[in-house]
Amino acid sequence: MYYSEELIEEVRSRNDIVDVISGYVRLQKKGSSYFGLCPFHNEKSPSFSVSRQKQMYYCFGCGAGGNVFTFLMEYENFSFVEAVKFLADRAGIELPEMEYSKEAKEKADLKSTILEMNKLAAKYFYVQLKSERGSQAYSYLKNRELSDETITAFGLGFSNKYSDDLYKYLREKGYSEDLIRQAGLINTDERQGVYDKFWNRVMFPIMDVNNRVIGFGGRVMGDGKPKYLNSPETVVFDKSRNLYGLNRARTSRKPYFLLCEGYMDVISLHQSGFTNAVASLGTALTAGHAALIKRYVQEVYLTYDSDEAGTRAALRAVPILREAGISAKVVRMDPYKDPDEFIKNLGAEEYEKRIHAARNGFMFSLEMLEKQYDMNSPEGKTDFFREVSRRLLEFEDELERNNYIEAVATAYRVSRESLEKMVAKMAVNVGMARPVARPKRAEGSEKKQKEDGILTSQKALLTWMIDDDRLFDQISQYISPGDFTESLYRTVAELLYEQRKQGALNPAKILNHFTEEEDHREAASLFNTRIKELRTKEEREQALQETILRVKSYSIEHQTMNLDPTDMRGLQHLMEEKRKLENLKNLNITIQ
Ligand code: GTP
Ligand code: MN
Repeated sequence: MYYSEELIEEVRSRNDIVDVISGYVRLQKKGSSYFGLCPFHNEKSPSFSVSRQKQMYYCFGCGAGGNVFTFLMEYENFSFVEAVKFLADRAGIELPEMEYSKEAKEKADLKSTILEMNKLAAKYFYVQLKSERGSQAYSYLKNRELSDETITAFGLGFSNKYSDDLYKYLREKGYSEDLIRQAGLINTDERQGVYDKFWNRVMFPIMDVNNRVIGFGGRVMGDGKPKYLNSPETVVFDKSRNLYGLNRARTSRKPYFLLCEGYMDVISLHQSGFTNAVASLGTALTAGHAALIKRYVQEVYLTYDSDEAGTRAALRAVPILREAGISAKVVRMDPYKDPDEFIKNLGAEEYEKRIHAARNGFMFSLEMLEKQYDMNSPEGKTDFFREVSRRLLEFEDELERNNYIEAVATAYRVSRESLEKMVAKMAVNVGMARPVARPKRAEGSEKKQKEDGILTSQKALLTWMIDDDRLFDQISQYISPGDFTESLYRTVAELLYEQRKQGALNPAKILNHFTEEEDHREAASLFNTRIKELRTKEEREQALQETILRVKSYSIEHQTMNLDPTDMRGLQHLMEEKRKLENLKNLNITIQ
């Protein structure tokens, strides 16, 4: 691609952010900013702010934020280029035909070709379902009590018994075998040659938030194995960054999602009016999913299968969600297997009651824990409370920990004081003045956690710098763009330093640089990282100094590790840096 930076900046600066957002959100002026109800999460009092001076928006409730392009990308689901086109049009700016680089064009082409093929395949499956050949599949769905409306809404279909007819159909449409393979729609083996991945199954197209078909799930109509077949990951299908039903749930305007395990659960819940249900795509919940959910809601009700596997999956999901800042509750479905069966047997109203009776994720995990102890013997009970105390220690926040101590004391009818004492004693035993030791993340090795930590510091530092020219000047005496080891952060830093050389910082302009959706979001998040609420000026200054030191010393460590041992100049430079770092330990930053 792309349009020139000047042109993009012209489009941005000729579309005042307050005017544009006013077309979507009712804004009211308060001080130097405009406030309204956040369109990205559900709320009753306005925490969504737009600054005319900065030409940025930010929601204090959900953390959404960015410039005028970001807003349209989030609200209208535009790509960056679409947002530029839209706003150019709005301001009457004529854009030249776009020129793609060969590589960008090929990548974009492959993605859009696969999306096209998927769409054709989904239509093909849908037509098959509605044709004579699909009658068995259609009655299967009817037997599962799905209405025609639901079938259409979810685009359900049928892959028929001929094991290569989708392949033939797509070949006729002009797609090469290689492309069809890259879409994950065919397999090859020596005996049969090329054959359709899905045949004789009920088909569930999987859509992304923009309603584009990115993959499929196919279910046997009976007891065959495997019960479900899912598309492999492709350039458009990333299972850890998509959720089934999210395209519909995102507009449900409920402040929480119902997270379930199966496609049928999602469909059945939506049909019963619970349009905020989503499911992961046949995989366990990941941090990627949690981050995705966090864009829409702060709260999740887990409505997993009531068997042992479902319970275990729910227990694993709770900390992953908590880590992302989402509070999790667990809905019980017993005596039924899953939400689908529950609703069929007891109806939507009873389900609603279960939602209201949902238990907090932590308390739920304790109930499960109880089963491992003999609660009728004093020893068993004591051991149980020891383990509970250990888990209570995992809440880093004192207020939160105390709230849980109180909740546990009430639920298990023990005195609050003795539980508190036990927790305190446990803290000493585990050798911590302050309780930390979080459970390890799913992927989390120690190294990974350290890297995560340092990235957070780099991010926080950038946020500080962007926020305030004066802070920028102080920090930039110690930190240079090369100290940001994450490449996206480094790019932002380079742009910032360049801007400051020319005059004042212009954060809204920096975002123009990031035209890939993922990068754009990630960069936008730098502008809104909420720096922990630090009460006093001194606390803020101290935190800032510590962050500078952390970033600098990691940068030196990083460079040392990557240093070519014969590079004497490099070595000297690093020693110089280390010496400076020593002096830095009493650096003095002041926040106005
Ligand atoms: P129904 O039996 O049709 O009601 O399915 P369900 O929606 O209750 O799904 P279930 O709880 O059995 O499984 C949850 C999810 O796991 C499904 O939606 C699939 O994504 C995935 N899954 C289930 N069975 C299989 C399987 O045999 N292979 C694979 N790859 N995934 C499966
Ligand atoms: Mn089911």
